[in-house]
Amino acid sequence: MVYSSFIGTDIDIAAELLRMGEAVAIPTETVYGLAANALDVRAVTKIFQIKERPTFDPLIIHLPELSLVEKYVENVPDIFRVLADRLSPGPLTFLLRKKSIIPDLVTSGSPYVAVRIPAHPVTRALLSKVDFPLAAPSANPFGYISPTTAQHVSDQLGNKIFYILDGGACNVGIESTIIHLNDDGIIEVLRKGGLPVETIEEIAGKVLVRETSTSNPEAPGMLTSHYAPRIPLVLGNIGELIKQCDPQRTGIMAFNNFFPGIPHDHQVVLSPSSNFADAAFHLFAGMRYLDSLDIDVIYAELVPERNLGIAINDRLRRAANR
Ligand code: TXA
Ligand code: MG
Repeated sequence: MVYSSFIGTDIDIAAELLRMGEAVAIPTETVYGLAANALDVRAVTKIFQIKERPTFDPLIIHLPELSLVEKYVENVPDIFRVLADRLSPGPLTFLLRKKSIIPDLVTSGSPYVAVRIPAHPVTRALLSKVDFPLAAPSANPFGYISPTTAQHVSDQLGNKIFYILDGGACNVGIESTIIHLNDDGIIEVLRKGGLPVETIEEIAGKVLVRETSTSNPEAPGMLTSHYAPRIPLVLGNIGELIKQCDPQRTGIMAFNNFFPGIPHDHQVVLSPSSNFADAAFHLFAGMRYLDSLDIDVIYAELVPERNLGIAINDRLRRAANR
């Protein structure tokens, strides 16, 4: 069945649809999510169907506060408790050993479930109205760029969902950082994201950052070709790359400056003041914009590899790897 979706700000409508077992798009501070009752297998199945996502790619569950996490996981390691006290709510996701109440479909059969306490006030209000966690992947078709506005969700999934809860543009703009405590008691970063690794290390000491590849993805969904626009994105030195190009058929995604000779409206500058948070905020919207143009190629450059730049570069590399 095909629906005409509706963008609105009514938390009660969203809560009621979720109670009925429907999937609803929700705002978070990172990206928009496609949410459903995590305890209801039929509702969770709708997420996979709507996104055309393979069921080997597990979902994050969202809760309003740390005290509720214990209902769904066996135990929260002390170091995660310390991190959660300092950094949650926020763009940080913990992998924790699940209780049987969490359906295997949510975790793709893994004994671990990914748990996040999002900071967005609208979704926090929604989460406190329902008495179940919300399973929510990013609200994009599988493999495409994550949405950071309600309109992005509507553009791609609009005919498949009833309701998009509008919370404005996501102010982080990049997905959460996912961490796991390995058997040696060391924290591993499984996905670089909106919470800089440096911030975790200031509290917890040195962590391991896993690099992933398509042949051996760390977590099932972390394929290197994620987040890709349809138009090929080529990474490199933009000044060099544009020497041979047809300016009318070229788009540019630069960190802090425009390039002469290329139409201004073919260029996205992530942050004229070289600010990482601004760059993350503009990254996915900028990719979508360039992807909507009548051009043949997008030339992009990496940003400095530190702080949020690490996650930004990760997404740029994946976008280039299609
Ligand atoms: O910021 C975010 O994390 C957003 C918002 C909506 O919360 N969500 C998000 O979900 O990015 P998604 O599904 O697009 O990406 C979550 C990734 C999956 O691709 C998967 O690889 C990993 O998290 N993941 C989830 N559960 C896991 C598990 N049990 N074990 C290992 N990796 C897991
Ligand atoms: Mg995603």
